[in-house]
Amino acid sequence: MRTDTGHVFKLEDYRPCDYLIPRTSLDFRLSPDATHVTALLTIERRAGVAASPLVLDGDGLTLLGIAVDGHTLPASDYEATPDRLTILKPPAAQRFELRLETEIAPSRNEALMGLYRSNNVYCTQCEAEGFRRITYFLDRPDILSVYTVRIEAPHNEAPLLLSNGNPVESGTLGSGRHYAVWHDPFPKPSYLFALVAGALGKVAGSFTTMSGREVELGIYVEPGKEQLAGYAMDALKRSMQWDEEAFGREYDLDVFNIVAVSDFNMGAMENKGLNVFNDKYVLADEETATDADFANIEAIIAHEYFHNWTGNRITCRDWFQLCLKEGLTVYRDHEFSADQRSRSVKRIAEVRTLRAHQFPEDQGPLAHPVRPRRYREINNFYTATVYEKGSEVVRMIRTILGPETFRAGMDLYFERHDGEAATIEDFLKVFEDVSGRDLAQFALWYHQAGTPNLTVSSAHNAAAKEFTLEIEQSVPPTPSESRKRLMHIPLAFGLVGANGKPVAWTAVEGAMVDDGVIHIRKRRHTVRFSGISQRPSVSLNRGFSAPITLSVQQKADDQFFLAAHDSDAFARWQAFNTLLTDALIAAFRQILGGKEPVFAARLAELAGRIAGDETLEPAYRALALSLPGEADIARDIGKGIDPDAIFAAREAMARMIAEANREAFPALYESLADKGPFSPDAASAGRRALRNILLDYLSLLPGGAGLAAGHFNAATNMTDRAAALAVLAHRHPGTAEAEEALAAFEARYRGDALVLDKWFQIQAGVPGAKTVEKVRELMRHPAFSIANPNRVRSLIGTFSSANQTGFHRPDGEGYRLFAETVLEVEKRNPQVAARLATALRSWRSLEPGRQTKARQALLDMAKAENLSADLRDIVERTLA
Ligand code: BES
Ligand code: ZN
Repeated sequence: MRTDTGHVFKLEDYRPCDYLIPRTSLDFRLSPDATHVTALLTIERRAGVAASPLVLDGDGLTLLGIAVDGHTLPASDYEATPDRLTILKPPAAQRFELRLETEIAPSRNEALMGLYRSNNVYCTQCEAEGFRRITYFLDRPDILSVYTVRIEAPHNEAPLLLSNGNPVESGTLGSGRHYAVWHDPFPKPSYLFALVAGALGKVAGSFTTMSGREVELGIYVEPGKEQLAGYAMDALKRSMQWDEEAFGREYDLDVFNIVAVSDFNMGAMENKGLNVFNDKYVLADEETATDADFANIEAIIAHEYFHNWTGNRITCRDWFQLCLKEGLTVYRDHEFSADQRSRSVKRIAEVRTLRAHQFPEDQGPLAHPVRPRRYREINNFYTATVYEKGSEVVRMIRTILGPETFRAGMDLYFERHDGEAATIEDFLKVFEDVSGRDLAQFALWYHQAGTPNLTVSSAHNAAAKEFTLEIEQSVPPTPSESRKRLMHIPLAFGLVGANGKPVAWTAVEGAMVDDGVIHIRKRRHTVRFSGISQRPSVSLNRGFSAPITLSVQQKADDQFFLAAHDSDAFARWQAFNTLLTDALIAAFRQILGGKEPVFAARLAELAGRIAGDETLEPAYRALALSLPGEADIARDIGKGIDPDAIFAAREAMARMIAEANREAFPALYESLADKGPFSPDAASAGRRALRNILLDYLSLLPGGAGLAAGHFNAATNMTDRAAALAVLAHRHPGTAEAEEALAAFEARYRGDALVLDKWFQIQAGVPGAKTVEKVRELMRHPAFSIANPNRVRSLIGTFSSANQTGFHRPDGEGYRLFAETVLEVEKRNPQVAARLATALRSWRSLEPGRQTKARQALLDMAKAENLSADLRDIVERTLA
């Protein structure tokens, strides 16, 4: 494990390397405890650079042999430590061959970085800095090399031998051994290297590219699970097709392979020609996967495939540029899903995710710009800001330039930078070049942390037929950035007349207004529309055109009107959601003041109308009916958070909606029952989502537990079964119905780890004080393993980030369990531990009692011995 060196990496310190590695040959002799790795590196001194020591990165390595141009190097000519190999006096020649031998133990690698074993399968994870755990190398993304890889292993242990690129050669050797050679003609950084070897089942497919080339597709899974890979294969083909149509991007190798493994730190990894996936994002059928699982599989398969152009063909110059590949690729996978499913439903879901994950990050101690300038541990910068806000920034470029110019800019980006390691400046420049616009102010979205706020008020002057918007922007301070500059915010809007139709104006002044977008660039804009005789309602940030918070002084009547009539589906959802949030916050304050919460019956009535509105997609109606989460409400309240009061407010509102609609909801619920065979398509999933949210409401009425138990028993797919189980466990904890369903679920899926994760998750999410003990008990369940990231995330991740009342138990027991477990996970897997630890990032917004206890848990973690760089970085920044 890498412990903390305290070193801070700074963007301004970037220097190109004196040396390049144009070719890399790797030879692996696989063995669980002693894998022998021989690396033959062609090293080239860059033109015009004087000879200097060559310093290669390592991480926990032992050097067994070293030779330069075929001659063993004398010990006086190099220094080798586990973390570094220095060739003190490299040859004077421009080019030389360096041969390195190292030995590693994949079976003892529990950090799951570098070469490790999962379920008896050898696999690798090299992003960001895992390659240096395999051999000494210039392990940085601007060192692009052409790789040839030879793998040798006993045939019975590893019948399948895979690496990047195209297969070149394979054959048998004596004593039951065999080998395979792979060659990847595209120069790539070391983080994209991959190797997989073991006994796996194969699902084969093929795809003909737009220029008529045949690509062989393979998805490899645990033997016996082949029938669960069909959906992933279909998603892969649709992704390949879509990238040709939407971005003109064609696949470039003869083969494309995906391997599913059961121990994986992240979701999936885009290694060139050999994507490695967490099996949770490959394996699915109706019996074991929910509709959300199907949607995730589709999105992640697409995401990793899209990296082939945005990440692999054009990679990052350094890790500060991570959003260049991640933000852009998230944007691409969002667009893909929007085209495959429902655009408006997808947009609402994206915004909910952004607000749930990126907003709290941006508003707390871990805030950083989309392109950070500093890091201690790069693993901790795979964040919602880099990914989700990074994607929003790309979306804003498209909004500002329009779809055609955006596409022209992307085309120029691919043409200009193919085969290079690029920067955000390179990316912005292509859009400046195709549009002739100056994007300097816009570039602040990459450089400045924090969520901008717009305050808007409006006035109508009937006599002058003038409608005025007063708009003011501010960007709150974030750690180490106290003074903020003014941003360019593209604010999509609409003026809506009493008939629900758009209101036309004759002239507008005070800001650039273009194609439904107000361009905010100054602190204050007074935007005056003339020729408007009747006061319109104003719909703002339509489609969530900018990732900002909005404070609009608008009458509740206007909000109700927009929630029923806005033609922009996102803004319409937003209007209703804002009404719900405002009511919930008011109820929270009433509860804190010792009063019964009061709600406007109007809200419940509108909820009923939305639920039954046949002109709206069921998936949209389901989203509208799902109340703002406890964490969402907490974020909007801001400080002095008492999760129990928020829970009570939310619970009371759910009851009010259920009671007000007790006549209409049952009939609607009945009418949505699945007819015919299961299909994972978006429309069917939408009907299930609506039916399941109705079940959630109906379960609050008399007889609710029985209804949910019936739903559970009659379920013919995992979506309905898991939804009913969650309703029982969360709304009726401890009842016979809940206990029976939990036991039945466990018995039925005893042998299926991925399905049991749902069982862990549901129980970790049970609201209330008792869950801490339940989680402790479940950690001793035979299916739980502290070494498996999926198990840890299901139980501990869910408890700490999705169970407000359980985790924030007033006596601090939740935090104590959490701190203990994070430290336990950290011994094996620092990356997963550090990610878990971010659950405490909003500790300062808690009420004083909980705040003290949460801080104590952070301090306890900070004072643990031999803390990894990963966890120390998170804990110290969180406390700072
Ligand atoms: N390149 C990442 C995987 C990765 C993340 C490697 C962090 C090393 C450290 C991959 O492309 C990715 O972004 N995966 C996401 C899923 C994606 C759909 C956002 C993940 O693993 O969560
Ligand atoms: Zn990615």
